[in-house]
Amino acid sequence: MALKRIGVLTSGGDAPGLNAGIKGVVWVARDNGIEVTGIMDGWMGLLDGYCQETMDLDQYVTRTWDREGGTNIGSSRTNPFAVKNGDKTVDRSEELVRNMQKMGIDALVALGGEDTMGVAAKLSAKGVPVVGIPKTIDKDLYGTDYTIGFDTALRNCLDIIDKARAPAGSHHWVQIIEVMGRHAGHLAFWSGVSGGAFLILVPECPFDFKRIFKLLDDRLSKVGRNFPRYAVIVVAEGATPGGGELVTVDGDVDGFGHMKLGGVGTLISKWIRTNTKWDARSVALGHPQRGGQPTAIDRAMGLALGSAAANCALKGRFGVMVSARGSVPSPSLTTVPLADVAGKILYLDVKKYYDEAEYNLKPQVAE
Ligand code: F6P
Repeated sequence: MALKRIGVLTSGGDAPGLNAGIKGVVWVARDNGIEVTGIMDGWMGLLDGYCQETMDLDQYVTRTWDREGGTNIGSSRTNPFAVKNGDKTVDRSEELVRNMQKMGIDALVALGGEDTMGVAAKLSAKGVPVVGIPKTIDKDLYGTDYTIGFDTALRNCLDIIDKARAPAGSHHWVQIIEVMGRHAGHLAFWSGVSGGAFLILVPECPFDFKRIFKLLDDRLSKVGRNFPRYAVIVVAEGATPGGGELVTVDGDVDGFGHMKLGGVGTLISKWIRTNTKWDARSVALGHPQRGGQPTAIDRAMGLALGSAAANCALKGRFGVMVSARGSVPSPSLTTVPLADVAGKILYLDVKKYYDEAEYNLKPQVAE
């Protein structure tokens, strides 16, 4: 069957660079005479009651989109294989496939993270022609070295780490900065390293309060103007003390069974205030980490991956996620089967990068 119309959707948490990704899809598709429909609010936009609202996308509509953060076609955490219905969940994937046909959509391009690629893999197994584009500020997606949004989120976290130093230094307190990333420590680790954090706590390596107190004492007890009188600790929202539990916002789970993480920073600051002589403050950066204009990398990579995904669709290469290997913005673009990406998490390589005693970057050795 000749390809006439691609449906493009963004699913999961928004991320800067998604609009550039959409623009990249539109650019190549329209140049090849293929129509593009923007499906609103992720997989939800293909379900009854929602699929009548779509956006026709062309080069003129998307002309300036690469400069804009968020996603201009909306997003949701809807899982079409398990849509909430009261206390139960219902598999509405058949309805989604029917609606695609009614809407004249011959192929899908889905921009998202692990959950989105999981849905895409299941749809692909049902025979739906789908191509994935990697997106998540968490950078925890298997099968790619780059995900749309990570670079901008890193910049946003670094910005706050830098800004937190003046108050912490002026008042001589321990400043805890809690960043997102779910079960992976990429965002916390690399923002902490680039921001010169004293300690970085990541989910991959449970921390020990006594060790933290000792490291703080060593740093802050030295008397004299030249010694630091404050300390910055960057903690990933999914970090836990050894033997401890994840700290969550409430008991709710989303359509993919994920709990909302948050609060570990507050817990650490209370522990420091209670168990040491040092004062401590905590800030959780929350959703603004995902905000703002995309960085140069996220814009350029969004366009590159979007265009590569459209080219896959044009060539009839479905059931894959486009992937970037090597250094951005000039990586090798390749594809990975969706089935290989689904259900996996790419963790921070702690063995390579993390000093578990100092909670910071390990000195690196060139090979
Ligand atoms: O996956 C991106 C992310 O920002 C995670 O880092 C975070 O745990 C989660 O989304 C927050 O979820 P929500 O946007 O639903 O609050």
